[in-house]
Amino acid sequence: MTNHHLEKLPAVVPTVPHMLYGGDYNPEQWPEAMWLEDAQLMREAGVNMVALGVFAWSKLEPQPGVYQFEWLDRVMDVLHEHGVAVNLATATASPPPWLAKIAPESLPITASGVRLSPGSRQHYCPNSTAYRKHAAQLVQRIAQRYHDHPALALWHINNEYGCHVSACFCDVCAVVFRTWLVERYQTLDMLNEAWGTAFWSQQYSAWDEICPPRQAPYHVNPAQQLDWQRFCSDTLLGLFIMERDIVRQVTPHIPVTTNFMGLFKPLDYWAWAVHEDIVSNDSYPNPSDPLAYIEAAMTCDLMRSLGHGRPWLLMEQATSHVNWRPQNVTKPPGLMRLWSYQALARGADGVMFFQWRASRAGAEQFHSAMIPHAGTDSQVWREVVALGSELRLLDGVVGSRVWAEVALVLDWESWWALDLEGKPSADVRMLDQLRAYYTAVFERQITLDFVHPTADLSNYRLVIAPSLFLLSAESARNIEHFVAQGGTLVMTCCSGIVDDRMHVGLGGYPALLRHVLGLRVEAFAPLAQGQRGIIATTDKRELHYQIWAEIIQCEGAILLGQFTGGFYAGQPAITRHAYGRGQSYYIGTCLDADGVAWVFDQACATAGITPKQRVPQDVELVMRVCGSTTFVFALNHAAYVVSVPLPAVMHNLLTQHTASTVTLEPYGVAVLTTAPFVESSLEI
Ligand code: GAL
Repeated sequence: MTNHHLEKLPAVVPTVPHMLYGGDYNPEQWPEAMWLEDAQLMREAGVNMVALGVFAWSKLEPQPGVYQFEWLDRVMDVLHEHGVAVNLATATASPPPWLAKIAPESLPITASGVRLSPGSRQHYCPNSTAYRKHAAQLVQRIAQRYHDHPALALWHINNEYGCHVSACFCDVCAVVFRTWLVERYQTLDMLNEAWGTAFWSQQYSAWDEICPPRQAPYHVNPAQQLDWQRFCSDTLLGLFIMERDIVRQVTPHIPVTTNFMGLFKPLDYWAWAVHEDIVSNDSYPNPSDPLAYIEAAMTCDLMRSLGHGRPWLLMEQATSHVNWRPQNVTKPPGLMRLWSYQALARGADGVMFFQWRASRAGAEQFHSAMIPHAGTDSQVWREVVALGSELRLLDGVVGSRVWAEVALVLDWESWWALDLEGKPSADVRMLDQLRAYYTAVFERQITLDFVHPTADLSNYRLVIAPSLFLLSAESARNIEHFVAQGGTLVMTCCSGIVDDRMHVGLGGYPALLRHVLGLRVEAFAPLAQGQRGIIATTDKRELHYQIWAEIIQCEGAILLGQFTGGFYAGQPAITRHAYGRGQSYYIGTCLDADGVAWVFDQACATAGITPKQRVPQDVELVMRVCGSTTFVFALNHAAYVVSVPLPAVMHNLLTQHTASTVTLEPYGVAVLTTAPFVESSLEI
């Protein structure tokens, strides 16, 4: 694939073919007299879409079956009159108090048996008949009422599924879990075999003996826990699909989304994303973390990848501070703009906020908003207005694509499996390993896609699979095929240890990929906490490692680095193996940042990936492409001025200047373009 194949895609929300801009609008918190002023201010700020009604259930249905839509009619009308489209919520994320009263069993139960109380939000059991019935009725009413309202542009199903309650352990969920297990295994014999119930006398003789993994004396069966995580993700997905089907039936032409939460462990977003029209995400990086932008970039890339490269939507971010950390650091001027552009650079076609107006009351009264408590005579409001007016200059970027030749493998099942207790070391954590490799790629100004291990990998030159602990036969075949066809693979320690039933592959790890890697891992040698060691590479470098080492025997692989200490001194730590038309690297340990960067550089050289232009530290360069046009986003994450030489004379869409160097203010951004796009001259 080349950039030239990246044609412009339709706007995320077809009725608003611009960069989307706005936020959660909660007019029910304010007197009606303010709604007109709100709409006028939205127009002033360049707001073209708001998420409406996200937590409005108790205002829309104050008593069971008694609906009050008139106020929402008026809000929808006034927004439409002011050119603001509506991302209409189904309002089911926080049931009204009456539901807990008439159906106390709708409240979820924790693993330790505590029934959660109302008074907050998301207090529902996903399998509660009462919750599902009342939620479905509400969604049906909303869909019917607004199906032909001209402001309706997008459906916002529920809100942040699983954010506070990702699993309910009640008896109803236990019954649904058993049904899910029957579908998966068909017979108890199959389940007993898969779960390894011969261990600790766990053999089941009736389906109703099986329980959710509630709080127990010691480690719960790992296969049971893994299936429970699969089930919990599926059961919430089922709830999403229930609502989605209702709105789709009434308004098949209106796209549907639900807001994700980045690298959110409880939900397998690969399985979710295929069921929505637009991927959207909520992102709250911590302004006090100087490297928060790398994590934020990672979630942006994940969102784009979940939609298989389609533009996505930053549904929520904060204009300044949140209110849920112990210390809620304020964003310095410019940071909100910078992080907004980072999302656009990495494929978003819109940036939205939580929320429009800072609440006077309620649990989030100290969370920032587009209009702070101080009102419009404020730095935050001025920045909101300025950003809104700038985004109008970016219509040409809408629908453009991000191109990547490197892929990073992320599999939620493997993440769940690796992070379960009872491992040789608790310190090999999925996210840490993913982050380490993401950071090396990011720091070289190379953009990557995330992929599921069974995805089509043929568009990538290099695939990195950090600690892919659980490896299904299908995933193994897919990875093998990628290498055989000429791809370069980097696989790291603790990969391919178990299959999708959590059974260990025998004869040496990773059983299903030994021939592709040309080696056999005989044993693990985890390090004590804080212990570090040195690897000597064949190019005479010293790399540092920690956490984990493996006893590796090469079966054809060549040695690139060996451990220098411990009882395994002199044995392989880093290897490369030619397989088919490709090459596979194996890293039998957790390297520090320099080591990971060394591996990545080697792998890039093998894969034929050209090093990109070096830029000042804390500068991020990302390209979006649209046919023969390229947009280069230059982002300065430093609090000082930097100058970045450009690969050609380029035009800054934000300032209308044309030059071959761009100067970025502290937290400054530039969106540069040159046309026609020449691929070779724009290797950044
Ligand atoms: C999100 C949520 C919003 C608001 C926000 C505060 O998790 O969707 O409703 O609570 O966080 O940061």
